[in-house]
Amino acid sequence: MIDLIFNLRNDRPQLVNSAFLIENIDQLQSGIFSDREIDYIQHQIENNKKFISLNYYYHWNYIIVTPTNSCKNDRLEELRKIGAIVAVHIKKHEVNFVNVVDNLNDYQLPLAFIEGLALASYSFKKYKTEKPKGQKFGRINLFSQNITQKNLEHLESVITAVYKTRDLVNEPASYLTAEKLADEAVQIAKNATIEVEVFHKEKLQKIKMGGLLAVNQGSTEPPTLTKMEWKPTNALNEKPIVLIGKGVVYDSGGLSLKPTENSMDEMKCDMAGAAAVINTMDLLANTQAPYHVIALIPATDNRLSANSYAPGDVVTMYDGQTVEVMNTDAEGRMILADALSYAKQFDPELTITVATLTGSAVRAIGERASVFMGNAPQETMLKLVESANRTHERTVQFPFWDDYAEELKSDVADMKNIGSNLGGSITAGKFLEKFAPKNFIHIDIAGTAFYTKEREYYPIGGTGYGVRLLVDFINNYNNKKTIAE
Ligand code: BES
Ligand code: ZN
Ligand code: ZN
Repeated sequence: MIDLIFNLRNDRPQLVNSAFLIENIDQLQSGIFSDREIDYIQHQIENNKKFISLNYYYHWNYIIVTPTNSCKNDRLEELRKIGAIVAVHIKKHEVNFVNVVDNLNDYQLPLAFIEGLALASYSFKKYKTEKPKGQKFGRINLFSQNITQKNLEHLESVITAVYKTRDLVNEPASYLTAEKLADEAVQIAKNATIEVEVFHKEKLQKIKMGGLLAVNQGSTEPPTLTKMEWKPTNALNEKPIVLIGKGVVYDSGGLSLKPTENSMDEMKCDMAGAAAVINTMDLLANTQAPYHVIALIPATDNRLSANSYAPGDVVTMYDGQTVEVMNTDAEGRMILADALSYAKQFDPELTITVATLTGSAVRAIGERASVFMGNAPQETMLKLVESANRTHERTVQFPFWDDYAEELKSDVADMKNIGSNLGGSITAGKFLEKFAPKNFIHIDIAGTAFYTKEREYYPIGGTGYGVRLLVDFINNYNNKKTIAE
């Protein structure tokens, strides 16, 4: 949970734990530092130091030298990274607050610095019996002429949503069952005045959500489908945008048990798409975004038992199409497919799935970016890339040619649930497309959802990937320009 307070101040900062954001030394107000300090700072800047720390016995001051690259997105990311360096420093030295003194002429750059600082200050300690000793970093005071209270509040909401997403991803399946995940969504929705509805097992059986029920067969925990709806009166889109998040709270592979050593260790993260979508909804509502958005979260675990669905089974899906199961580890597409056909009744103008769907996506481009594909207009997909670059939640477009779907042909059913072992993220996308409403985008976040080593402003564990991307994308979405009729 977030326990960081953000505070916009109008008074003069005290020279204690202050981080001065500058482009060059002339931007440091005169009289703050002594001549000897200025000399030292000057020398460090000449040596290309971007982060300069000055120690005063019990406190510190920092000089942050903002990069001047021509590309704005690169500068924003550099500042997030320097924010993370400051976070490491203040943790080591038990600094409990920081004054950020903005001397730049821009509102995005200081916010990016604070974003990196805050994102890097996350930790998940719920299951540690020994509580951390010493003072905890708990406050960021911002001194800036360029930033409004509203800007800062927006950033605070974004950070809170990312923290909450990481918390959910870091929760083990022993706590976070499908029912519990639905409860979390209900709790969030109630606090944010989002409409919410949970379908429990009986209802899912009644409406014949065959894909979700098949994956759930081996489990002792019932499945859920959660629907959240944010519909402001001033919505700019006529038809809703639908977001669908994969909520596999644990993926053992099922009877097609995961074959690679240790590959099950991180599979509590298989609901990261769901966590990102739930918290995106929260953030849209908290910031009163003028877009009508519906979220669907199909959730279950994927386990082995005598009742598990098995390779060779034929499953009748929610929309009546039949699927020959060739691998029970390809379970994400089974539950997403049902949610996609369920979404058709809303006649959405755009539908996006967010899912830790394939190892193939990770093998293709690693953990630094997600992959996406789809049949939405190219302008819409370009807007997604712009948001990805702005937020540095990067994503790369994969082809979505129809011949990839040929691998899904089955002799006994309408389709198989896997293709060959090549290009697996694309065949997975093509499988989903068979169930999707028109204008469909699929984002495969298998590589970016969970890190086993620390990177910049990402601690080990859930990254929260997707929230900043989706919210930026939706807030810059203009249906008149990007969606063909
Ligand atoms: N949850 C996995 C994908 C995954 C892999 C997520 C690595 C996060 C990190 C998914 O359900 C899965 O098992 N996919 C299989 C599909 C295959 C059987 C066609 C895969 O990618 O190996
Ligand atoms: Zn799987
Ligand atoms: Zn999975």
